[in-house]
Amino acid sequence: MKIFRTGMELQTHIKELKGKKQKIGFVPTMGALHNGHLSLVAEAAKENNVVIVSIFVNPTQFNKANDLKNYPRNEAADIETLKNTACNLVYIPTAEEIYPNKESKKKKYEFGRIVEIMEGEQRPGHFDGEATVVSRLFNIVKPNNAYFGQKDFQQFILIKTLANKFLASLKINVVRCPIIREKDGLAMSSRNVRLEESQRKSVSLISKTLFEAKNNYQNYSVIELKEKIKTLINTDKQLKLEYIEIVSDPELNKITEWDKEQKMVACIAVQVGNVRLIDNVYFN
Ligand code: PAJ
Repeated sequence: MKIFRTGMELQTHIKELKGKKQKIGFVPTMGALHNGHLSLVAEAAKENNVVIVSIFVNPTQFNKANDLKNYPRNEAADIETLKNTACNLVYIPTAEEIYPNKESKKKKYEFGRIVEIMEGEQRPGHFDGEATVVSRLFNIVKPNNAYFGQKDFQQFILIKTLANKFLASLKINVVRCPIIREKDGLAMSSRNVRLEESQRKSVSLISKTLFEAKNNYQNYSVIELKEKIKTLINTDKQLKLEYIEIVSDPELNKITEWDKEQKMVACIAVQVGNVRLIDNVYFN
């Protein structure tokens, strides 16, 4: 497994690979790798000759300084983990490499409605930062396929739009991979390691509530169901519901009445102490 720290050496290598008609699969990450990330690597290996993973904790997508500061980082362990997977090459850029000047940090994108709700509403600037870094990475790696998790459903829709609308000339196929969960249903996340023991027990309620809602949603109106979910989550004093929203996939329209013709996804964000977790479940 090769490790590159500059875009220059990476691009030279990629040119060689492309010259040999090798298909490149790309998995962007912020490290602190878990089985959710590794499932993307496995998927990429099925459909490409070469799998590239990037590790970069992107400062511009964090809207809270403390969240950035406390984000788990473990480069050495991540490299060891990746050695046991189908990953062929790890790209670990520095912040200077990704953001060579102040202007490069402040890109704004017109995504319209899809960034005005949920994560976009709660985390100002988050999606501009995310689109900026992914755009930069896509331009350096120029993969054939790029892999993202349904765990970050709104992010997936955003990246798909970014690739198809703003970076169409790169012709990158953005692939969606299912959510990988712990035994108790908790969606795997790098932030889970920051949970204290009692918080870790409490957070199993998040996916449990979503799956229960999926099984019974037709017995309630949309408003009633959202209220019920809010009450259930907030019964645990360690959890604080930030939002529960039911939206259509891929338009991200808020669902106000059940409509089985639409793919409906229930999306949730919960604050647990100073850790913020998100999850989502399809209703149909
Ligand atoms: P990160 O949170 O490290 O996640 C990297 C990729 O792993 C994302 O596509 C995410 O959706 C996916 N992922 C995380 N947890 C998962 C799970 N439990 N099951 C399946 N996939 C999962 O998302 C980011 O980094 C960043 O925003 C990034 C796209 C790298 C841009 O900085």
